[in-house]
Order: sequence, then C-alpha cells, then structure tokens
Amino acid sequence: MKPTVYVINGPNLNLLGNREPEKYGRATLADVEALCRTAGERHGFEIVFRQSNHEGELVSWIQEAGRAGAAGIVLNAAAYTHTSVAILDAIAAITLPVIEVHLTNIHAREPFRRTSYVSQVAKGVICGLGPQGYGLAIAGLAGLAGQETRT
Ligand code: DQA
Repeated sequence: MKPTVYVINGPNLNLLGNREPEKYGRATLADVEALCRTAGERHGFEIVFRQSNHEGELVSWIQEAGRAGAAGIVLNAAAYTHTSVAILDAIAAITLPVIEVHLTNIHAREPFRRTSYVSQVAKGVICGLGPQGYGLAIAGLAGLAGQETRT
C-alpha cells in the first residue's frame, strides 16, 4: 500500500479561479488537485485532497491524518493561518511533517499576513509560487520520507 499525503485547504480556496485572480491566478481548486495527484503518482503517494471553510473541520482532518499514519500533510490553511491557535495545537499534537503552502507570498502583502500560527509548527514553508508550491511540497515530503521518485 502506498503511503498517504493529505492535502488540506482552508477557507475560500474553493473559489480559486474566480477569487481575486490578479493575486491568486486563474487555476481552480480542481486544477490544484490534479497537480497534486500527478505529483503524488510521481512520488509514490496516495493523495487525500480536501477543502473546508470551517476551522474545526480542518482540525479534525489534521487529527485524522495523524491517526491514519500519513506520510505528511500539505496545508494551505488560508486565512486561518493568521488566526488559528486550534490549528497550531492540532499540528503540535501529531508527529507527521506538515508543509505549509500559500499561493501568494504572504510576506509581501498586508502586515497581518506575516504572522503564521502554522509556521511555528510546520516542517517547511513554501509561499509565493502559485499552485506549483503544492507539487514542491509533495516532492519535499517524498524527500523526507526517503520515497523513490519516478522521473
Ligand atoms: C493564502 C494567503 C492567505 O493570507 C489568504 O487568507 C488566503 C490564501 C494563499 O494561498 O496565498 O486565503 O493562504
């Protein structure tokens, strides 16, 4: 059985493609999912891909990934990145590597976006590279897991 990577997306990411395209681009969440599945195949991972607008649901999925013994989590917690102690605590409670991803460079935007509760407990952070950041995060998890990569 292949190891699993959870890709968890937070609020408003269901609107990708239409949402402020000058910032977030034209790719939809379905496009991001397809990219993740391709990266998963390349690196020998099963991909569980989720999105929710609800903080508690994100917390439950982080716990679920921990219980399932996943290889890691790629997490774009969106706006909850900047506010959620509950997500910080959920990540701290599991031992899996979590790679924090943002489509935009959160350090080059409004000052409140520079605070990330996720970064404090993330293994790594990728931001500003658009959807390809998700693929890079999956490659990073493969490297951490010593997972073989198909070229
Ligand atoms: C985001 C950045 C967050 O600040 C914002 O609230 C989002 C998306 C990104 O992917 O660039 O919703 O996480």
